[in-house]
Amino acid sequence: EYKYIHQFPLPIPPIAVPLTSYTDANKTIDFYQINIKKFDAQTYPDLNKTSYVGYNGTAPGPTFHMTKGREAVVRFVNNYDRPSSIHLHGSYSRTPFDGWAEDVTEAGQYKDYYYPNAQPQRTLWYHDHAIGITAVNAYFGQAGFYILNDPNTDVGLPSGEFDIPLMIAAKQFLSDGKLLSPELERVSLYGDVITVNAQPWPYLSVKPRKYKFRILDASISRTYKLYLAADSDPTTRIPFTVVGADAGFLDHAVASTSLVIAMAERYEIVIDFAKYGGQNLTLMNERNWQTNPDYPATDRVLRFVVGAGPALPTTDPGNGALVDGAHLAKLNVPNSAAHPVIDHSFTFERTNGQWLINGVGFENVPNRVLAFPKRGRVERWELINTSGGWSHPIHIHLIDFQVVKRSGGRGAVEPYEAAALKDVVYLGMNERVEVVANYAPWDGIYMFHCHNLVHEDHDMMAAFNVTDIDL
Ligand code: C2O
Ligand code: CU
Repeated sequence: EYKYIHQFPLPIPPIAVPLTSYTDANKTIDFYQINIKKFDAQTYPDLNKTSYVGYNGTAPGPTFHMTKGREAVVRFVNNYDRPSSIHLHGSYSRTPFDGWAEDVTEAGQYKDYYYPNAQPQRTLWYHDHAIGITAVNAYFGQAGFYILNDPNTDVGLPSGEFDIPLMIAAKQFLSDGKLLSPELERVSLYGDVITVNAQPWPYLSVKPRKYKFRILDASISRTYKLYLAADSDPTTRIPFTVVGADAGFLDHAVASTSLVIAMAERYEIVIDFAKYGGQNLTLMNERNWQTNPDYPATDRVLRFVVGAGPALPTTDPGNGALVDGAHLAKLNVPNSAAHPVIDHSFTFERTNGQWLINGVGFENVPNRVLAFPKRGRVERWELINTSGGWSHPIHIHLIDFQVVKRSGGRGAVEPYEAAALKDVVYLGMNERVEVVANYAPWDGIYMFHCHNLVHEDHDMMAAFNVTDIDL
């Protein structure tokens, strides 16, 4: 359905509210409860309602606003008829709370997840990770934002109503308004409808001032190369400022006219609408980008309708942002030059129709632990895409890494990527990437995998074991 493009407003997900809080002399733990359940929503006004399954019956799920230093326990109650496992993506959760794919909560059961909320401020997201059905579960609505704030590192970026989460996800609807299920898919589901916060091609009314957007690609398989243009001048790309990525602030702000974002990556960008009062701007998506098939309207994402009137003064709260070239964060980046040797090399391959890592899939239980980094050791991992005309966003649980090298394919690390700490790196067609990380702070067995959820389910996922001893 290519009707209603930019005719409905961007929905903002509800805010999660704790049921209760426990405080003692040293700390506070907030307790939340989320129910996984089925619900119907009128996505298309002239079609049947669309069925979803989401956290508290919304999609995206409620947004958690957490404060560094306040811990949380979230009880996920499975009121649906399929197993679930919840991963808080971007958190260094202990293994029992990391959403291990086989640690499923069956229908009618619940599990309490403990989240330390002790990392630097960042945009996280929580989503399903159940073995073999992650694609279906996430696609039908089991995904939400989890924002970790740190009042001590406030650098004056747009905040409150000017700090907006954008969950971009490509979907495919059937003519009766239902979603096409990715259940039987074994290759990829690219989708022809671009939704933002579950609304196909919405618009957002903004004031002529700066806004911050927290962009997440929650698609199953579609990657994007985003750019911004005025509708009156679609060929001129308007610059914006990248200020954050997966693991929080960049080392310095990076001006850009495009943004490559693959599944599970997060980027925080500031757009200044001051000069565009009374105009429409559209967040667009480049055609012929990587492996993604184009459909009539996959070149567009979200329209900004900028209010008329004079630009708001920079004295307006949060609009005087230190964004232009300001130093945002002293990143705790491991010294990559001191670790020139590749500790592990992983190939992401397609063999006999299977998606594998070094020839192994997650089902291969005796062989699926592919690395044993000693806790606290800095390692350089090489990730190689040998699968031909396919691309793979690679996510390593537990750690934040620096992307230090890319060759083949696009040939270079994007400037905003080089200034970031990340937990997902986009391995484009024929690319080879090197990432450096400190394997800490906890021991335990963690997953790493392709975040194309069809690939992850079948079966491009393996594990590493952080140990206290040399193995
Ligand atoms: Cu966002 Cu292992 O996943
Ligand atoms: Cu993949």
